[in-house]
Amino acid sequence: MITRETKVGELLNNPIARDVLAQLVQYAGVNEKIVLNPIVKSLKISALPKFAGKALPDADYVIDTMIDLFNQEANTKQPSKSNAHYWWKEAVVYQIYPRSFQDGNGDGIGDLKGIIRRLDYLKELGVDALWLSPIFDSPNDDNGYDVRDYRAIMTEFGTMADAEELIREMHARGMRLILDLVVNHTSDEHEWFVDSAKNPQGEHGDYYIWRKPKDGGHPNNWHSFFSGPAWEKVDTRDEEYLHLFSKKQPDLNWENPKVRDEVCDIIDFWREKGVDGFRLDVINYISKTSLEDGSATLGGLLQFNGIEHYFYGKRLHEFLHELRQRSFGDAFTVGETPGTGPEMNKLLTADEREELNTVFSFDHLENLGKNRFDDYRYNLNHLKKSFSRLEGEFADYAWPSIFVENHDNPRMVSKINSNEEYRDILAKLIAVVLLTARGTVFLYQGQELGAVNVNFHDMSELRDIESINKYNDLIACGKTPEQAWQTVLGGTRDHSRTPMQWTDETYAGFSEHEPWICVGDKDACNVAAQRNEETSVLHAYMTLIQLRKEHPTLVYGTFEPFESAKEDVFCYYRDDGKERFYIEINLCERAVKQPNTKGKMELVYSNYMAQGDGLQPYEANIYRVLR
Ligand code: GLC
Repeated sequence: MITRETKVGELLNNPIARDVLAQLVQYAGVNEKIVLNPIVKSLKISALPKFAGKALPDADYVIDTMIDLFNQEANTKQPSKSNAHYWWKEAVVYQIYPRSFQDGNGDGIGDLKGIIRRLDYLKELGVDALWLSPIFDSPNDDNGYDVRDYRAIMTEFGTMADAEELIREMHARGMRLILDLVVNHTSDEHEWFVDSAKNPQGEHGDYYIWRKPKDGGHPNNWHSFFSGPAWEKVDTRDEEYLHLFSKKQPDLNWENPKVRDEVCDIIDFWREKGVDGFRLDVINYISKTSLEDGSATLGGLLQFNGIEHYFYGKRLHEFLHELRQRSFGDAFTVGETPGTGPEMNKLLTADEREELNTVFSFDHLENLGKNRFDDYRYNLNHLKKSFSRLEGEFADYAWPSIFVENHDNPRMVSKINSNEEYRDILAKLIAVVLLTARGTVFLYQGQELGAVNVNFHDMSELRDIESINKYNDLIACGKTPEQAWQTVLGGTRDHSRTPMQWTDETYAGFSEHEPWICVGDKDACNVAAQRNEETSVLHAYMTLIQLRKEHPTLVYGTFEPFESAKEDVFCYYRDDGKERFYIEINLCERAVKQPNTKGKMELVYSNYMAQGDGLQPYEANIYRVLR
């Protein structure tokens, strides 16, 4: 057990503490060596407030909260390694944002019929499973991440019959379907919430998190991820409800067993329809350890007050295990878990614990100390460091999800280097990293074409609630419209939400009708053109997906870093005793010296047409080692 008498250095023996320290390093961008300096390590925790002085005004509070968190797993048995083979470890999963993939009925909004039309394309690409962002009935405050009815299809997307047809058509092609289950919150238009707001004593009165206002203010100081306080009033109740996201996304009260019964029923409903797996939206937020105020210091660092009370809540493991036992069974589960670290992920995903199969963690998406809205160029050495840890020391326990793009992030190529000259090379470099990785690979629509960020002109072109609220917030904080726009433009989630570019027609072959959001650079980048071009990014993806399928070494083989201390190159072997591959990647924009390897090798893939003496800018090669 950790107490105030424990020395800082000893904290590193506690897995949860190791994760939290790593997170703080990630957010603050401070050098680990400062935290681990021998003087700091020899201090007792109780001495820290004096040491930190004014820099940590609420140090005592932070320390007590953290000690509780670290002790949460004090008696937990560390999981053992597992090398079991499952379909979902081998799968290449393709994420579809249904609103933007293919319009099938000419209203400018993508739909299920549209997806069915494109299944042959996806089969040809070689992907094994599709994850669809939410398709349930929703008022679309957050594009479906606010569900009004979990058993009905969003009107714009089609009907239940379309969903059933999609499942049939996918299964007929040997593909699996993963649905996006959003159960940390519902829409405020869900019938449970409507009733909960009206009847505090009624059946649904306790389905959400309601608290009385405190001293004339909100029940606590937590922030919403979509700007402003995380609490909102209704006219019909004298309490406020918690919403970690928008006001129209009230958080469910998972402490109430009836809520958990409802969630199990929803999972059963979709499993009976033949769904093969679930992506669980912000699933690590479901257990709120307490509703106390968040630390102002941590809030300043993480940009949102309160996170320490729910990002790894006391009952999280229990709730997930319950869902698995009662409903998920052998359906595949991938949890979206912002903020959890590798040690926590081990506990969330170890086979023997029967909670989730894998999780998305996000630390690799931004460089240390940076966030999505910062204006900076992503340094690929950070990706190397993050993936090396995940695929190396952790993958035996916690099978990682490997991805760099999704519907919440700008395009990776643009983050690394927006120079057009490197666009295709970089897109292929990313393909090499992903498709030779030890983990389940997730691709996001358009990534297989080398999609880049969109040249939006002003706020009128953005649709995302996060961007709109952020812009208004920045203006309210005194930023000029130009400053606010530049910030939002850098990080807006809409970069990845514009229509899939099938052709160079007016609406990119996505629709005959003007789409709900503008179209990107369809002339430079579209499926029709890339299909005919053997050196295209699309062909690179097809080739590499096929390579992965033919060589399970690339899925299950060990990950052995080579010359890992060398900056700007990322080299590793993948080996399963039967085959051995060597991957070498230049992570920077200049040519670099090639690390010396021994033994004979045969080149199986390169993102350059011809090899030179060293590695050319962003060159990425895959070799088979000949024994
Ligand atoms: C997840 C989703 C994101 C959504 C949020 C609230 O992070 O990926 O799109 O806005 O949860 O549901």
